Amino acid sequence: MSNISKEFDEKVINLPVLRTALPGPKSLEIINRDQQYVSPSYTRAYPFVMQRGSGAIVEDPDGNRFLDMNAGVAVCSTGHSHPRVVEAIRRQCEEFLHICAADFYYPQLPDLAEKLSRLVPGNFPKRVHFGNSGAEAIEGGIKLAFHATRRSKLIAFVGSFHGRTLGALSLTASKAKQRAGFGPQALDVTHVPYANCFRCPYNLTPETCGATEAKGPHCARIIEEQLFKTTVPSEECAAIVVEPIQGEGGYVVPPDSFLRTIREIADRHGILVIADEVQCGMGRTGKMYASEHFDFVPDIVATAKGIASGLPLSATVARADLMNWTPGAHASTFGGNPVAVAAALATIELIEESLLANAARMGDYLMQGLRELMHKHRLIGDVRGRGLMIGIELVSDRQTKLPAVSERDRMEMECFKRGLLVIGCGTSTIRLSPPLIIEEDQCDFTLRTFDECLTLIAKERA
Ligand SMILES: Cc1ncc(COP(=O)(O)O)c(C=O)c1O
Repeated sequence: MSNISKEFDEKVINLPVLRTALPGPKSLEIINRDQQYVSPSYTRAYPFVMQRGSGAIVEDPDGNRFLDMNAGVAVCSTGHSHPRVVEAIRRQCEEFLHICAADFYYPQLPDLAEKLSRLVPGNFPKRVHFGNSGAEAIEGGIKLAFHATRRSKLIAFVGSFHGRTLGALSLTASKAKQRAGFGPQALDVTHVPYANCFRCPYNLTPETCGATEAKGPHCARIIEEQLFKTTVPSEECAAIVVEPIQGEGGYVVPPDSFLRTIREIADRHGILVIADEVQCGMGRTGKMYASEHFDFVPDIVATAKGIASGLPLSATVARADLMNWTPGAHASTFGGNPVAVAAALATIELIEESLLANAARMGDYLMQGLRELMHKHRLIGDVRGRGLMIGIELVSDRQTKLPAVSERDRMEMECFKRGLLVIGCGTSTIRLSPPLIIEEDQCDFTLRTFDECLTLIAKERA
């Protein structure tokens, strides 16, 4: 084992070290083979190749070490290969790898189902259906809503991302290229604008839209005041599907009253509310589920990504009285795989022990640093988020709020060149979704690197 790897194993170093030009020769070889054989539909913003990881540090095949402020898109919640998660996986691997939850019983499944029932908001009995991905958890939620209400229409939000399988894609309204070429949408979904106060689609403010009043914000009320009277007969609407904090759409935090108003409208019309907590759940925002920030209690919750620290697992958690479908109605071969479930149980233990608190503390620390950077860099139009789900929206002009798209893309690349992995979301937003184990000096490095890159980009624009 080389000295580099040994240092790495011992976690001596928790900041980036670059040893070659990027990408290095070994990385380049892998990228070339990937480009020959792997689907070109994957979106790679810059040429990072993963060889190994520990905590928030990842190493490429050329021995370059990077600080990972993305965590495989909010997945590696406990950091890369957390020893307790790895140990739980190892132990489970020695027992058995698979048996199929659809056909047989094993104790890990009710263990995790019971835990999730306790953690997901709502003081009522719940039941859990397991899948392998966020999209599958959403599919489960939609099917359940159809089955429970015997209605077939859905309402979702512009900017939302719920996955790319055909059902989930009907809900997704993030980027046109995600739909282009795939024909008519499978489901009957009507989209309304999300509560994006930085770019209010109605040119209102929280003070003028009703957000600070009992009636709630215009963007939620429009469902009842306009949609139900024109395009969506409420008695045919099965569910409203909403991200409590919008992820791929730009890390958008709605005003406090948005979700409450949606809940009230749904209740008045016997409509279910499905919260997509795939990206914002599992402790990322400093609470186990982002819905808790808004005292929001959904009927169905889709949870995935950070649930098993990187193993594929998802869950659809619902009111028990809704999840009363009969055997055979919904299942999959791999959903609830015992190795992934073991990883999830270890992950939840770690999140509850210390990572929730760390996410809240480091999130505040980063937000404060970013707000200071905002005073210095006019390119930053908005800084928003909860816990370690933080969006930094870049604008060409603070008055017009013109999205600084090429500058955001350049930021991603310049950060990479300095050993910092971040990716974008929305039109011109940089997102921070690091492992929840992130430390203060790693946040400092992130802030210093942002400062350096923004200074460089501003100089070039001048
Ligand atoms: C909010 C949200 N829902 C659903 C999904 C789909 O998850 P997956 O890619 O695991 O299918 C994503 C993925 O980014 C997401 O962010």
